[in-house]
Amino acid sequence: MSLGPVEIFEVGPRDGLQNETREIPLAEKIALVDKLSQAGFARIECASFVSPKWVPQMAGSDQVLAGITRRDGVRYAALTPNLQGYQAAVAAGADEIAVFASASEGFSQKNINASIEEAFARFAPILEEARHIDLPVRGYVSCVVECPYDGPVAPAQVAAVADKLFAMGCYEISLGDTIGAGRPDSIARMLLAVRNVVPVGRLAGHYHDTHGRAMANVDASLALGVRVFDAAVGGLGGCPFAPGAAGNVATEALNAHLTHLTYKTGLDQAVLEEAADMARTMRG
Ligand code: HMG
Ligand code: MG
Repeated sequence: MSLGPVEIFEVGPRDGLQNETREIPLAEKIALVDKLSQAGFARIECASFVSPKWVPQMAGSDQVLAGITRRDGVRYAALTPNLQGYQAAVAAGADEIAVFASASEGFSQKNINASIEEAFARFAPILEEARHIDLPVRGYVSCVVECPYDGPVAPAQVAAVADKLFAMGCYEISLGDTIGAGRPDSIARMLLAVRNVVPVGRLAGHYHDTHGRAMANVDASLALGVRVFDAAVGGLGGCPFAPGAAGNVATEALNAHLTHLTYKTGLDQAVLEEAADMARTMRG
């Protein structure tokens, strides 16, 4: 008996490491991605082509993509805030990219120095160019429950941003509880609103575990039909522009939980534990 497939999208090498203060050597980043490549993921986010002045840890993302040993069947993903980042990601050989918007104005300004509307104006040419080369584009929505600057965020606002990203051509919308403020009931209210505008099969949950509720939020999302979850090995993660944002839900814990519930993730728990050890060591 199985409850069917659930995919874990590994974001540790990007969301996990971007917030670390120690300057992590390139070789360590590459080794982590190579280890994760052995775990059975279909998608690993391992690069971010943002301004190195804003996020110094992600400088050298091109070298990460150049240095890893690519495994068949794995797509290596990169974050891109604008056309400049998109072009760098394509040149570096990213298999897919992600644009990231916020459901709240305050976080949008602090994170990318632009309003939500300005962010969409930056994304339009990215989606246009990606379409020409058949490059998959994922869309993130941040602050889907609460913003560290503006406070609670209305589900309708999240739905509006998700709808716009989906209409632009993002193949999947990842819903980010950036500061881990969500609870099963607020996550469910948000999902019910978003499900009205984007098919649930195109949604992913991206839950930070600041208050230890990420796993309960995963369960609430499973009950509403979400079958893709972002996670970071070792529970790494956070965002430099979201004070209080702690790590993503830990991949190894999420995989164990889903497996216990009889979902099929296709991941090797032993490899995940090894990768989690590496991630914790890298944290320093
Ligand atoms: P800006 O300063 O407003 O941009 O930054 P600008 O266009 O005025 O350019 C200023 C300088 O940045 C110029 O260089 C540009 O060339 C350079 P200078 O002439 O001063 O030497 N620049 C770039 N360099 C490299 N790559 C680029 C790029 N673009 C411009 N792509 C910008 C605007 C968006 C660039 C900046 O605010 C930025 O990089 N922000 C990054 C924010 C970030 O990475 N946040 C973390 C990821 S989001 C997240 O973690 C949430 C998520 O996990 C989901 C969740 O949890 O909710 C996804
Ligand atoms: Mg995040």
